[in-house]
Amino acid sequence: MAFNEEQFKEIKAEFTIGGERLHEIAASFRQDLQLGLRDVELSSMRMLKSYVGLPSGKETGDYLALDFGGTNIRVFRIRLDGEGKYEILKRVGRPLIVPGEYNYICKDATAEQMFDFIAELIDEAIDGERGKKFYLGHTFSFPSTQDNIYNARLIIWTKEFATQGVEGEVANDLLVEALKRRGADNVEPVAVLNDTVAVLLSAAYKTPNIFIGSIYATGHNTCYLEPSIHDPNCFGEGGMILNLECGNFMKLVPNRFDKEYDEGSEKPGEQRFEKMVSGRYMGELLGMAIAELLGEKGKKYDLTSIDMSMMILDDSPNLQRASDIIMAKVGRELDLDDVKKVRELASAIIIRSARLVAASFVAIVWQRAGKGAIQKQHVAVDGSVYEKMPLAKENITKALSELLGEDAAQVDTILDNGGSGLGAAIAAAMVKCNA
Ligand code: GLC
Repeated sequence: MAFNEEQFKEIKAEFTIGGERLHEIAASFRQDLQLGLRDVELSSMRMLKSYVGLPSGKETGDYLALDFGGTNIRVFRIRLDGEGKYEILKRVGRPLIVPGEYNYICKDATAEQMFDFIAELIDEAIDGERGKKFYLGHTFSFPSTQDNIYNARLIIWTKEFATQGVEGEVANDLLVEALKRRGADNVEPVAVLNDTVAVLLSAAYKTPNIFIGSIYATGHNTCYLEPSIHDPNCFGEGGMILNLECGNFMKLVPNRFDKEYDEGSEKPGEQRFEKMVSGRYMGELLGMAIAELLGEKGKKYDLTSIDMSMMILDDSPNLQRASDIIMAKVGRELDLDDVKKVRELASAIIIRSARLVAASFVAIVWQRAGKGAIQKQHVAVDGSVYEKMPLAKENITKALSELLGEDAAQVDTILDNGGSGLGAAIAAAMVKCNA
């Protein structure tokens, strides 16, 4: 059965955002930001305080860094030498879920099990050493409220995490208890931060003129340095970094696939922006579109954003690789023309995602500039979608120039690879160097 041409065009149009609409989206994102700065209740984004500003670059010392934000937990021992220099002394990592073996992110898992698993990994990073004090920076990449640099309390799980007993709790307290149970209480968590904040700290430690940090991966979120917020509990320079939790930005119109996906998701009504743009969801959106074209609406295929990448990167004349992926995940042999259409839809979904992300960056750049000129700057981004997904980065750049016009020369995006770990060490150093 070949796809219906009209239906295909209509679905592709659903995933296409023209120039005018993109401008409107950037403007509405900025407006939401301004509302939130006035009163956070007015914004659809959480705009959470981080209690850090920018590092001075002079932070030094040895720290532990825990990167907890996706299915892979990583722990690093990092030596900061100041002047933007650092060395990774040790790196360990383990997934929170191994299908068929264990799963610490599902509804049946408990906070204790999850944090014991993390404490074990931390212990591995310090080689079981007990005689020495280790200060730890904790990148905890879920929406959390805090009123100091330590006490981030999880508001709600995102990215389809569902472990019991963590929502409403202070993540570092759960970690401290687990470390105690393990006898590793010589490890002391001293700072907690969102991964976007970690990326911003990490990038700003190394390079000047960076005020915006973003993650474009399994999840999506952005933070920026807000110069107007001053707080005695805040470490660092230039104001306070706000973690926007913009994955929860709600003021844009979802298409019917977005709506349907949301309704069946772990947290309906939440993270609507993230469900349109991030790596966790793009494959499933494509799967829904294919199901419709195959007359199997409602059927779920296990398509991932990695499948999308591989299909797009297949440049063989008969698209064998793409075809094989479709066969494996959708269970159908499609003719070449339909495989091409699937790739076109995959591209449309990625391009939409990149354009939306770019619009949010521009909104923040506008907001920071106010009525003044746009400062020369880099937006630091980390994450697999930004780094590896074909079409993502180039379409961000394209959309930046569409939205910023002449000012586009002032703004570019740069990859800050591994910022979640380094940023956590820097945050710990910002606390300890000031202590
Ligand atoms: C989700 C989380 C957010 C995190 C982002 C990227 O949106 O809510 O805190 O920064 O994923 O990992």
